[in-house]
Amino acid sequence: MEGVIDALTRDLLTREAGFDWTVTEFVRVIDARLPPRVFYKHCPELLHSLKQLPVATPSGVPVHLQLLGSDPATLAANARRALELGALSIDLNFGCPAKLVNRHDGGAALLRNPERVFNAVHAVATALDGEIPVTAKIRLGFSNRLQAVACAQAVQAGGASQLVVHGRTRDEGYRPPAHWEWIGRIRHHIDIPVVANGDIWTLEDYWKARTLSGCCDVMLGRAALADPWLAPRIRHWQATGQRLPETTWRMRAEVLKTYAHLQCQKLPERVVTSLVKQWLAQMRQGNAEANVEFQRLKRITRLDDLLHNLVVTETPETSYA
Ligand SMILES: Cc1cc2nc3c(=O)[nH]c(=O)nc-3n(C[C@H](O)[C@H](O)[C@H](O)COP(=O)(O)O)c2cc1C
Repeated sequence: MEGVIDALTRDLLTREAGFDWTVTEFVRVIDARLPPRVFYKHCPELLHSLKQLPVATPSGVPVHLQLLGSDPATLAANARRALELGALSIDLNFGCPAKLVNRHDGGAALLRNPERVFNAVHAVATALDGEIPVTAKIRLGFSNRLQAVACAQAVQAGGASQLVVHGRTRDEGYRPPAHWEWIGRIRHHIDIPVVANGDIWTLEDYWKARTLSGCCDVMLGRAALADPWLAPRIRHWQATGQRLPETTWRMRAEVLKTYAHLQCQKLPERVVTSLVKQWLAQMRQGNAEANVEFQRLKRITRLDDLLHNLVVTETPETSYA
């Protein structure tokens, strides 16, 4: 997720078993073949491939590389470059709702015309020539859902091997609800695996999304940050039918502290302070305690004060420490 999940966050979120794979922030492709440093910046895990190691988080969860663009030839050239740098698979972003991106003909803008979705996927699939898979992420449409199925079919016809569907149109932004039943409708019209995405904040949401969409797999976005134990909780329930205890504030605070310590190794304290607050702000969603903590901590400007005030006094319950 652009601006909020980088390689370090991926590392922290995959330390507990839960996620099957992760995806980078999008690499914006406009009209040029980008230099390797751009790919390494978005996906430092690619550097592992120089040592014949998997492009994965330190816990071994694969990292897929996402491209966002509209020109088929440029997308294809950059997909090819990513392949040369060791990418495991290329995901194409047709979901971004940002005005600036859409105005420049990227992200969800392409959903207005399924043929353009097809052309982009097909160009990338052809360039990759089966060496690595191409996958895609769409919303239900731009301003309405009339083309939802046609866009999904275009993704499949273009040669993608998997489709993630965020159950809202672009114009719906992030307003609840996500229409999981529409994801199910799409699933009935294509044969490639469909992954349901949007508004899965709890184990109950996961059950409902799974039931209404019929998808076995879901993608977590904001909730991965709001509750870093949601993916492990889902995984544990799948394996045992048992529910793991709810995530406490102390567990959240431990993650934030570890995150701050690790980010400090490469970023100035001022930047780390705002990154920690940004993650803390994400944790407020659906969690009253994190909201109280956010209100208490949001005006602190020094990192050591902030970390001191995160107050983790008792024995940590997590393996993040
Ligand atoms: C700050 C932010 C950045 C995002 N960046 C990306 C991105 O780079 N690529 C992408 O496919 N989706 C991106 N998304 C969308 C999410 O992946 C996801 O589809 C959306 O938030 C709905 O799922 P959720 O309710 O689980 O968060 C972003 C969302 C947010 C809020």
